[in-house]
Amino acid sequence: MLIFSRILDTTYPQKASLTMLNFIDSIKAKFISYFFLLFGSLAILTSCSYNLKLDADAIIEKKIDSLLSLMTLEEKIGQMSQVRHFADIKSDTDIATKFIGSVIHTQGPTPGVDALGWQNRFVALQNKALSTRLGIPLLFAVDAVHGQNTFPGATIFPHNIGMGATRNLDLVKQAAKITAIETQATGFNWTLSPCIAIPYNEKWGRVYEAFSESTELTSKMAKASVEGYQGNLKDRHTVMATAKHFVGDGATDFGVEGGNTSLTIKEISERLLPPYKAAIKAKVGAVMASFNTISGKAMHANKILINDTLKKRIGFDGIVVTDWKGYSRFGKNEIINAGVDMVMAVDGDLDVFQKGLLLGVSEDSVSIERVNDAVKRILRQKFRLGLFKNPYPDASLISKIGSKNHRDKARQAVRESLVLLKNKNTTLPLDKESKKIVVVGEHANNSGLQSGGWTIFWQGTGENYTGATTILEGIKSQATGNVIYDKDATGNHFDADVAIIVVGETPYAEMFGDITAGNGDRKLTLSKSHQEYIDTYAKKGIKTVVVLISGRPLVTTNQINQSDAFVAAWLPGSEGAGIAEVLFGEYNFKGKLPHSWPKSVEDFEGKYGVNFWDTSIKPMFKFGYGLNYN
Ligand code: BGC
Repeated sequence: MLIFSRILDTTYPQKASLTMLNFIDSIKAKFISYFFLLFGSLAILTSCSYNLKLDADAIIEKKIDSLLSLMTLEEKIGQMSQVRHFADIKSDTDIATKFIGSVIHTQGPTPGVDALGWQNRFVALQNKALSTRLGIPLLFAVDAVHGQNTFPGATIFPHNIGMGATRNLDLVKQAAKITAIETQATGFNWTLSPCIAIPYNEKWGRVYEAFSESTELTSKMAKASVEGYQGNLKDRHTVMATAKHFVGDGATDFGVEGGNTSLTIKEISERLLPPYKAAIKAKVGAVMASFNTISGKAMHANKILINDTLKKRIGFDGIVVTDWKGYSRFGKNEIINAGVDMVMAVDGDLDVFQKGLLLGVSEDSVSIERVNDAVKRILRQKFRLGLFKNPYPDASLISKIGSKNHRDKARQAVRESLVLLKNKNTTLPLDKESKKIVVVGEHANNSGLQSGGWTIFWQGTGENYTGATTILEGIKSQATGNVIYDKDATGNHFDADVAIIVVGETPYAEMFGDITAGNGDRKLTLSKSHQEYIDTYAKKGIKTVVVLISGRPLVTTNQINQSDAFVAAWLPGSEGAGIAEVLFGEYNFKGKLPHSWPKSVEDFEGKYGVNFWDTSIKPMFKFGYGLNYN
């Protein structure tokens, strides 16, 4: 701390120039007010605030230079290191002795029993960082990818695929804003979101983390999302966002997580880079490197794409962070030379990285300029976040976690994400006064199953979780007649007016969701038992409404033909009850397909699945399809 006040002293020339700037500003202000009085020109005001913004950025740059000039190489490498709070370090003291720059929370012991406990844990770690010679605050990162999904009781939004279906940019922005509040409320200042991949193949197990197969839609949503998360970064209820995974994550051949992308540079540039450009224009603070290779070259080590394209050509001035254990997996110092700034130094990578980079610099295989550039980028974001002034979380935000306002917004997102694919003889909306409604399927009454991966746990959960409502609960609160729950379709309720059959995928996240030969449980089609649920009621001539819970379009041609109405509900998150509000006509359907919908498993024989830009494979429903009640 002491030394840090010295840094402020070294910024004396800045203080002088600040006074000068203030003076110039005051003259400028007078001039502007006369001008404004004379011409009432709004344009002048805009340019004035632009100048002030430039000044603020210039001040930050000076502070960065002052601080950097005081740092030892070990302190710089420390800043470039990110560790988990419960692993990777032997004790909290390592935060100070290894000069750690960032802490990540992932699956593992939670930081505390409640939100205040989480905050307190991070305050303790922050204090360790602040106790060092230079007192540089920590960044606290978490995968808050659809709400602060690691915290039971938080508001969980539909996964991005559902947000893509809403086509509602303001909603995406509001969802990110709420997520930022709840993320800050649990002690973090950085989210590892949004994923702005363009999925080419539905076999990829991360399709749902992305907004759409459309570059144009994804670019718009990337912007809205970053704006929502970051707002004015200095505010204490906003977080730094991360555009990920750069680049080609969703475009690997055959949809393999971390596989190879054989797209040409031209295709990458036209189809995959625009969302990054949009995120960077919105001032995204971080970009995460991707696990995949491009024409055999690891993305983490791809200097042309990271350094030359992302940073130099597109002008990204934030942090490029590795993905999990990226340093030792993808080329060690080669990735630093390619432009990676911060290393997710997990699972044994901390020492390997810190010692490896130290050696690299001493042997001159990594230049000190490269290290300085990396550290400047990290410090820049810490200054932009206002962490030097206010490094601690705000306890007053805790009461907002899972609040009614937040949940109402998430419920709106659920309603707007639903895509109506079939509605024979206006089966929907359902009559609230139906005498008997039978609801079938374990997904109907399980908030874990309806939420997908990255919910409470990394791979999701099959259990109900705090604060969430289920689809069945929603149906019960809408219907005035008898609602029977026949979980596995064995109850023979053939006297029902209508059967609502909720089927779909069980939760999965990266790798575990890929549909590959080695991952036998995952299929592009429904499971046998789910097929039987539908058969049981449809074959008896009961009016059948199928609600599909899935992280991607599935091959459901037969089931769509069999049913009277068919709704793609994606992964709605904690507000499952919102679905019934649309089924019973309180709200109209608004969702439009964010992906082309396949007709058969043969659609997936090539490298990619069905995509609107590929006219050689005819979809069952086109990108953008979606019925409503009008
Ligand atoms: C995932 C990232 C995630 C990171 C940290 C990786 O395995 O690919 O998306 O942000 O883990 O949890």
